[in-house]
Amino acid sequence: MFGLNKKEADKSRAWKRLEKHAKKMRNVEMLEMFDKDPDRAKKYSINFDNMTVDFSKNRINDKTFAYLLGLAKEAKLKQKIEQMFSGEKINITENRAVLHIALRNKSNKPIYVDGKDVMPEINRVLGKIKEFSEAVRLGKFKGQTGKKLTNIVNIGIGGSDLGPKMATEALKKYWGKGINCYFISNIDGTACAEVLNKLDPETTLFIACSKTFTTIETLTNARTCRKWLVDALGEPAVAKHFVAVSTNADEVAKFGIDTANMFEFWNFVGGRYSMWSAIGLIIAIAVGYDNFEKMLDGAYAMDEHFRTSEPAKNIPVVLALLSVWYNNFFGVRNHAVVPYDQYLTYLPAYLQQLVMESNGKFVDLNNKVVKYQTSPVIFGGAGTDVQHSFFQMIHQGTSFVPCDFIIPAISHNEIGEHHEILLANVLAQSEALMKGKTVKEAAEELKAAGKTKDEINFLKKYKSFKGNRPSNTIIVKKIDAYTLGMLVAMYEHKTFVEGVIWNIDSFDQMGVELGKQMALKILPELQGSKDSSGHDSSTKALIDLIRKLRK
Ligand code: F6P
Repeated sequence: MFGLNKKEADKSRAWKRLEKHAKKMRNVEMLEMFDKDPDRAKKYSINFDNMTVDFSKNRINDKTFAYLLGLAKEAKLKQKIEQMFSGEKINITENRAVLHIALRNKSNKPIYVDGKDVMPEINRVLGKIKEFSEAVRLGKFKGQTGKKLTNIVNIGIGGSDLGPKMATEALKKYWGKGINCYFISNIDGTACAEVLNKLDPETTLFIACSKTFTTIETLTNARTCRKWLVDALGEPAVAKHFVAVSTNADEVAKFGIDTANMFEFWNFVGGRYSMWSAIGLIIAIAVGYDNFEKMLDGAYAMDEHFRTSEPAKNIPVVLALLSVWYNNFFGVRNHAVVPYDQYLTYLPAYLQQLVMESNGKFVDLNNKVVKYQTSPVIFGGAGTDVQHSFFQMIHQGTSFVPCDFIIPAISHNEIGEHHEILLANVLAQSEALMKGKTVKEAAEELKAAGKTKDEINFLKKYKSFKGNRPSNTIIVKKIDAYTLGMLVAMYEHKTFVEGVIWNIDSFDQMGVELGKQMALKILPELQGSKDSSGHDSSTKALIDLIRKLRK
């Protein structure tokens, strides 16, 4: 545990202290702590750049905070951060450095991997992204028939889809005139068909994004799109309508895309951390390279904040420690992220991969099975929509769900009272979660509403709220490229800190392999070229049933 050897870990003082302390904190009411300390909101808020993180509505007091910081210290967090930033191979199972931070290293100070500075290569590819995105936007890079390419289709999955999709949508207000962006990720033919049906091949640019260029979904979708293009415009059109983003030039060439039309990135960039690389090409085309660079600037600002701020004033560190607090000392198994901005609709989906693919692990860095819970389940959606779906459970469910509320003070669409109503709602949610409503208060309300005694007695419990439910409120001025960069980097680093505390490798994803392997075995069985025996009786019966239904 915590990067210590097993013997040391079993004696973790900080962990034991927190376990003991958590028992005392179980019945402590946040509202009482607010009453006792008028400075609580100020004390438990961090302002950085244009961002304020208020974490005062958490079940913590000064001791909790100090003990959690002690846990980070014991986990040697500071050293671990330095190890990541200096290019050490902290992804131990794949023997790789973890350098998404190099992609936005605006200081341009050298970062070495295997004795080689990675910055010149990164800068070269950034230059290529700039040149190409501008050429597409200005219509200088034209399609086969001389038309401007205005329909940009990203073909990729996981990290080669979720980041670009989330960021492109988040910055929709900045899209160039006439540009439309589409994303094809799922192997389901419907995903391809529904996009292609809308498009004109003459004005369509495909970006095939795959770190490995071996992912079956992406290659199958790319092949279908390639055929659709070639059927319409002939083989020479591929060079004008298809580019690739990958670390694997050989596979790109094998696929039939000229490597001159390939944008490279590197093995030290994890798929789910790659939207800052050429994987973000669609973002640069949609919003322009200047905005893409502003996104990198925002991320760099957060990187510097993370690297240099003391832990108590360090946003990603504090958010991670609070997550560990509930996850490991309250047994809470989930965490909701609710952005109150329609443009951030895909942020929760993006964070699901970032957090759960990074930290959903059960073997630690000492090759031992962990004895504690690692990643929580991340879920969420845009407010106020989700207030009308899962918030019932957040308010009255049997266990509490810590929430992050993300609020832009200014909307890109200030129409009438819309944004003020939205803001009133988010502030009401966090206050309601904390305050709750006692049975007595519920009864009084029912009485004031003219209910009979029997009705009051029957309804009062149903209408009560336990309260004391924690949340963080993250306020920014507006969701622009810079702020988005800050926000995403904040969550990347939060995820890293959690992984450090849990002493796991947050940068591999071996848990996705088994299902992939088995799908390859089942495919010929479904197609009838292989026998389906050798499975459990359920899987075999399902294969046989599907074959029968498809006949
Ligand atoms: O889901 C597993 C995974 O390997 C992710 O980590 C990755 O983002 C995704 O598949 C896509 O991989 P690639 O970019 O290599 O196609």
